Amino acid sequence: MTAETFLINTMDTRITTDVESAASLLRKGGLVAFPTETVYGLGADATNVEAVAKVFAAKQRPTFDPLIVHICDRSQLPDIVTAVSDIADLLMRRFWPGPLTLVLPRTAMIPDLVTAGLPGVGVRMPMHPIALKLLRSAGCPVAAPSANPFGRISPTTAAHVIEGLGNRVDCVVDGGPCLVGLESTVLSLMDDRPVLLRPGGCPPEDIEKEIGAVERAVTDLSKDDAAQPAPGMLSRHYAPRTPLTLIDPLARAVPLPGRRTGLMTWGASPEEAGFDRVIRLTESNDLTECAAKFFASLRTLDTSGLNAIIARRFPEHGLGIAMNDRLRRAATR
Ligand code: TXA
Ligand code: MG
Repeated sequence: MTAETFLINTMDTRITTDVESAASLLRKGGLVAFPTETVYGLGADATNVEAVAKVFAAKQRPTFDPLIVHICDRSQLPDIVTAVSDIADLLMRRFWPGPLTLVLPRTAMIPDLVTAGLPGVGVRMPMHPIALKLLRSAGCPVAAPSANPFGRISPTTAAHVIEGLGNRVDCVVDGGPCLVGLESTVLSLMDDRPVLLRPGGCPPEDIEKEIGAVERAVTDLSKDDAAQPAPGMLSRHYAPRTPLTLIDPLARAVPLPGRRTGLMTWGASPEEAGFDRVIRLTESNDLTECAAKFFASLRTLDTSGLNAIIARRFPEHGLGIAMNDRLRRAATR
């Protein structure tokens, strides 16, 4: 992103801090992008099927990919889910509001389009004060995927939303950069054993401390359709336009011969020789710091006139699990 486009974007008249008007747009069936602690969401009234259809159209998202329903208070749950099990209750008390989405049996009030016809609905209570204020003021559950065109890098600022969706949104509520920076962890509680459908901003180890071992859904990278155990977890996703290559956490980074190569790395060892652009997410091993900068840094590299990006994989624990998942899909051609 150049300084010039940034200026134009931040002056876009659809970027607002007026939460009440944004809530009124939501109630009227409009599309409102809003900040959460994870990424910006593209919101619509979850009970209004026409509004929800506009979300799929704006993102050019296939309808087999279900949307997460956002709430601000547990008193909204009876409209959305038929039961809250003991495990669900425990997880809500421990992690809500926050970056954990729970898939629970849905009620008839939630349109089929929201859940892609599945018997479960993903529900989450975000932690961002502006998201909570918007949800409270709108008074309806809000279906919201990440506010980016389908398959591309998730937005962590209001300007990213406008860059990707342009005039397909009615307004974007500006809440500054997202603090967590990775989408929520999605955990299905539809069967006896909890299944991790998507690693995200709530580390799996933290969940396992509360409820014991959690099964990990395995996506078959050769099949990209509704038959996946974790719908919407496509092999290619979160993708920059510049080809992306991954290296192991301890490998030496070397630019690709004859290519303008960028490097996204972390940690203390300096290895910048020969790269056209280097982004070091943290000087230490702080995965929280890396996550907060992760998507914005991928975007910066993608718009730096490079022919190749090399990204260093993270240690496979905590938020590193979610970032490695995103990197793997971003690198899939
Ligand atoms: O942090 C987040 O979760 C952000 C913010 C805006 O809340 N939202 C987000 O939504 O990342 P989206 O649409 O980009 O990703 C939602 C994913 C789906 O692709 C699918 O993998 C899973 O969550 N999901 C949603 N509803 C589901 C359901 N009913 N059953 C199974 N998986 C579901
Ligand atoms: Mg998304």
